[in-house]
Amino acid sequence: MKNKFIAGNWKMNKTIADTKQFINELIPLVAGANNRVALCVPFTDLATAVELAKGTNIAIGAQNVHWAESGAFTGEISVNMLKELGVEYVVIGHSERRQYFGETDATVLKRTLAALAGGLKPIVCVGETLAEREGGLMEEVLKRQTLEGLAQVSAEQMADVVIAYEPVWAIGTGKTATNQEANDAIGYIRGILAQKYGDEVAQNVFIQYGGSMNEKNAADLLSMPQIDGGLIGGASLVPEKFQAIVKAK
Ligand code: PGA
Repeated sequence: MKNKFIAGNWKMNKTIADTKQFINELIPLVAGANNRVALCVPFTDLATAVELAKGTNIAIGAQNVHWAESGAFTGEISVNMLKELGVEYVVIGHSERRQYFGETDATVLKRTLAALAGGLKPIVCVGETLAEREGGLMEEVLKRQTLEGLAQVSAEQMADVVIAYEPVWAIGTGKTATNQEANDAIGYIRGILAQKYGDEVAQNVFIQYGGSMNEKNAADLLSMPQIDGGLIGGASLVPEKFQAIVKAK
């Protein structure tokens, strides 16, 4: 069985001072954990986070990246800039970026390809809204987001891709998908990957669940066979809560 991969997504939270305090508290709490651990932090916290996490089992990720190498893209950050800092992961296509910042499947693909080409591991987010789920469109949406967001990604590159299934209606709402709903949706996504890349690639890819996952429901969600980990928002902001998820059994 695969270990699980637990990644925190701090969103737009925590200053450099907060980051120092958090990571120093977290290091002993998660030392020796069986599961993979990452923290995806704001751009301004990355250098501090990488420095503090060096030599520990905590990997550091960013929350977005631009696809161009450099140029006239005011406010954007390139893959090389993140690599130079020692960043390992990058969240791409989070539903908040899709909702508030015009992210589309096409831009998800561009970012993903650039990240992979430059040696960053993308955590590609997919997930349906409540209206889409209630309208019977969940599978169609997940299929489109998965296939278009990974369109030119090769089978070899899939070894570095993580997918996060995050139903939009469960993010930050306290409303978690049931274990079965999350498991089924992730199983569906894995089936799509199996059709495109074959069974081996599909079985090996880590597919996380995200959306109000916390220290109370993590063990049950993570016990489901399709769920390879979690992308944790709110509960990743408190070291004790996050470590409880990392160590959930
Ligand atoms: P949440 O966020 O855990 O606060 O629901 C998850 C996410 O948006 O990645």
